[in-house]
This record gives sequence, C-alpha cells and structure tokens, in this order.
Amino acid sequence: MTHDPLSYALRNVPRYTSYPTAPHFHDGVTAETYADWLGAISRDDSLSLYLHVPYCRELCHYCGCHTKATRQDAPLKTYAATLGQEIGLISEHLKEAGPVRHIHWGGGTPSLLPRQSLIDLTDLLRDRFDLSPDLEHAIELDPRLVTEDLAETLAQVGINRSSLGVQDFDPDVQKAIGRVQPYEIVAKATRFLRSAGLNALNFDLMYGLPGQSRDTILDTVDKTLSLAPGRIALFGYAHVPWMRKHQRLIDETALPSAAQRLELADQARAELLNAGYVAIGLDHFARADDSMAIALADGSLKRNFQGYTTDQGEQLVGFGVSSIGKMSRGFIQNMPDVGNWRRSILAGELPVSKGLALSADDRMRGRIIEELMTNYACDLAPVCERYGLSLRDLETALDTLQDLITDGMVALDFGANDNVRVSVTETGRPYVRLAAAAFDAYLAESQATGKARHSAAV
Ligand SMILES: C[S@@+](CC[C@H](N)C(=O)[O-])C[C@H]1O[C@@H](n2cnc3c(N)ncnc32)[C@H](O)[C@@H]1O
Ligand code: SF4
Repeated sequence: MTHDPLSYALRNVPRYTSYPTAPHFHDGVTAETYADWLGAISRDDSLSLYLHVPYCRELCHYCGCHTKATRQDAPLKTYAATLGQEIGLISEHLKEAGPVRHIHWGGGTPSLLPRQSLIDLTDLLRDRFDLSPDLEHAIELDPRLVTEDLAETLAQVGINRSSLGVQDFDPDVQKAIGRVQPYEIVAKATRFLRSAGLNALNFDLMYGLPGQSRDTILDTVDKTLSLAPGRIALFGYAHVPWMRKHQRLIDETALPSAAQRLELADQARAELLNAGYVAIGLDHFARADDSMAIALADGSLKRNFQGYTTDQGEQLVGFGVSSIGKMSRGFIQNMPDVGNWRRSILAGELPVSKGLALSADDRMRGRIIEELMTNYACDLAPVCERYGLSLRDLETALDTLQDLITDGMVALDFGANDNVRVSVTETGRPYVRLAAAAFDAYLAESQATGKARHSAAV
C-alpha cells in the first residue's frame, strides 16, 4: 500500500449530497431564473417537496444543521404562515406538474410547528399539488418532543415515515454533546409512533463524538436494535466549528482520534451487519425488507440533500429558509435569513439567494458521483454518451484515481465498446467519497482558494 489508510481518512472531501456542491452556488441564478425553471416543469415530471423548519427548543452542541433555538411559539406561528404563503407563491409559478411522490419535513425540528399549522399546511399542500396515493411523507423528529398527541396528529395529516435523532445512548456522551435523552424517552417515542400507525422508522446515530468508546458505541447499537427501526443512519460527526460556532462547546480534547473514529465506525457497522441489516452507501443501514434495501438491490437507490433516498423524482422543490431545490435545469437555494426570506415572499417574489445552472459536464460528473456513492460502481461510456461527452473529458479524473487503484480501493475494468467500469472495492467502501472526489472538477480550485472546507473523509 502506498498510503496509510489514516492518511486517506483525514482527507477533506465533500459528502456529495449534490454535485456540484453547495459552496459553488452563486447569485447569478436569481428569482427570474427560478421562475423560468418552474415554468418549464410539465405534467410528465413527478415532484418531490422539501420543507425546512429552522427552529429547535435548544441547540445540541454538535449540530451542523441550519437551525436556531427558540423557547417561544410566536416565531414558529409566523414561520408557518410564511411557509403557507411560499407554497401559494410557488404553486402559482408551476403552470403544470405531475404527482408529488415524496414530501420531507426537515430542520431543525419541524414538529415544533403548532399542531394547527401542521394541519393547515398539509391541507394546503393537498389543495395546491397532486399528492400521489403512494406518497412517502416523511418528517424528522426529536424523540424528546414526541408525545402521544403529536404522533396522532402526524398520522392524521398523512405522515408515514419518521426519522428520530438518537445519536448515542451513553449518558456521559449525551452530556458531552448537550443532548440528554435517556433510552426510555426514545423507546416511548417509538411506542407512540407505532401505536399511531407510523411504522416506518429511521434512527440517526453518530460516531466520532466526545467520550465514545468501543463499549459505548456497541451498547448504543444494541439498544437501537432492541427498538428495531427499519433504517439506521450512522453519521460520522462533522466537526466544523469555523462554520458552526456553537460546536466550540464540544471539548476537542475528548474527540476520538482519526484512528479511533475508524474503529468506532467499523465496530458499529459490524454489529449492524451481524444483526442482519444491509449496508447502504456511506452511512445507511436497512432491514432487508425495507424499501431502501430493495432500492439498493434493484439499482434504483438515489442520493439527494437528505442523504440516501428511494425518491426517484427529477424535480425537488424546496420551501423555507436555506432549502435547496433541484430542477432538471439546476439547483436553487433559498435565502438563509428568516427576515429576508419572509420579506421577499410578502412582496410576492421567489426568495432565491443563489443556485447553479447545470452544464453537460456537471450532469455527467454528477451522475458518475451519484452512481459511485450509491452502487459503488459506474460504467463511464454510457454516462459520457448520454451527456454528449467523451471519455477523454475524464482523463484527469482517471489519473487522480491512480493512488486508490494502487492501494486496492478502486478497480478499473476496460470492457467492450470502449467502456471503462470504475468500481470501489470492498476495502475501498469506507473511502467512497475519495473515489467520487476524483470526478469533482471544482474540488482542486476550491481547495486551493479555501472556498470550501470539508469534514474528514471517514
Ligand atoms: C435535523 S436533525 C434530526 C431531527 C431532530 N432535530 C433531532 O435532532 O432529533 C438531523 C440529523 O443530522 C445529524 N447531524 C447533526 N449535526 C451533525 C454533524 N455535525 N455531523 C454529523 N451529523 C450531524 C444528526 O444525526 C441529526 O439527527
Ligand atoms: S440535532 Fe436536531 S434538535 Fe439538535 S440542534 Fe440540531 S436540529 Fe436541533
């Protein structure tokens, strides 16, 4: 091996929930651009909707999400009312659109919206969009706030998948990350959701947190298994205090080293596989009968801003501050500040802050990166052909892969019709972001100019 695995793990590369990644969006994409893109959507395009709610009761020290703490209900009520106006505004721009197959409420903590607002907003979505009978309607939940009454409201408005932030069950780790929620709270939340008929559950776990050890992470996985969620996300803690100032509350001296992070990830992964979960991409696990495991098996797994998804929609429309939408023509990001976002909507203007119009080269590389991140392999020739480009456009990328190839992490197979198949080997899987990064045409520039700093590759 020419490189120590640790040197790979320490490399800073994006997580590729999009390509090009968000730091490359720019303000040349405006409300007019967005209006144009929305107007081009036709009845043949199915839609996915993402609604962002940037509020929590308090901030967890580790949190990297776009959210802020509020103890009051008034900002939530106003925010919900503005979201309603944004839904109205966007639907006026959409002359035609096919059915909505996925809705995702993310945050922050979207369930903090007043109950009546949740009911009114979902009624409005039903009124303005054609919600498909097989709609997947998902929400992110903080287990500490899940009551019997909330679970019933969620079921009533048609939510059928919930994702619970669990992170770690160890009391000392919970204290160190500012997120104290004993096992019984998570177990109770799970019971309330299941009793209301919400059986599709996802748990978010994290490794790389202060104070984690082999014993604590195995205990966390075992407690998770005892509650049998269909899906588990195991995120590597991204420590980015230069972007998220409150992460300074995390004691850096208690953070596991890069070698310990690798071990923690391996230990949790082995325990999950041993329990019969199927590993999906970088950081997900699913029971074999879960739709995500089925999507992996039939090659239809996708990756978007929420991570791995079964969502096949070509057009993702975002609502709420900082939300990102993806149209077939490019990416759109909403204004990050609640005041500006609201003023823009009240003035009848789409609250766009920036975006990116996709070139053929972006689409080709985006497709390759998504295939590597989901299926660990990609046939390059058909992808080049689809976007009217040639394998010669990928020469630099193939050169960049050389170290990973020498170290047995990536293999190249030269097949019929001038195809080159890139595959990430079993050993290379934890480093899949590095294989994807070889195809990123923006990375060298952004690393040289410091435009985007990323978290460690593992
Ligand atoms: C919006 S939160 C989930 C819903 C709810 N707010 C909660 O915390 O229970 C989304 C998830 O992102 C993950 N996350 C947050 N900050 C992170 C970070 N810095 N690095 C890695 N994952 C992070 C956590 O696992 C968290 O559950
Ligand atoms: S992890 Fe969830 S509850 Fe904690 S601050 Fe982030 S979004 Fe809010």
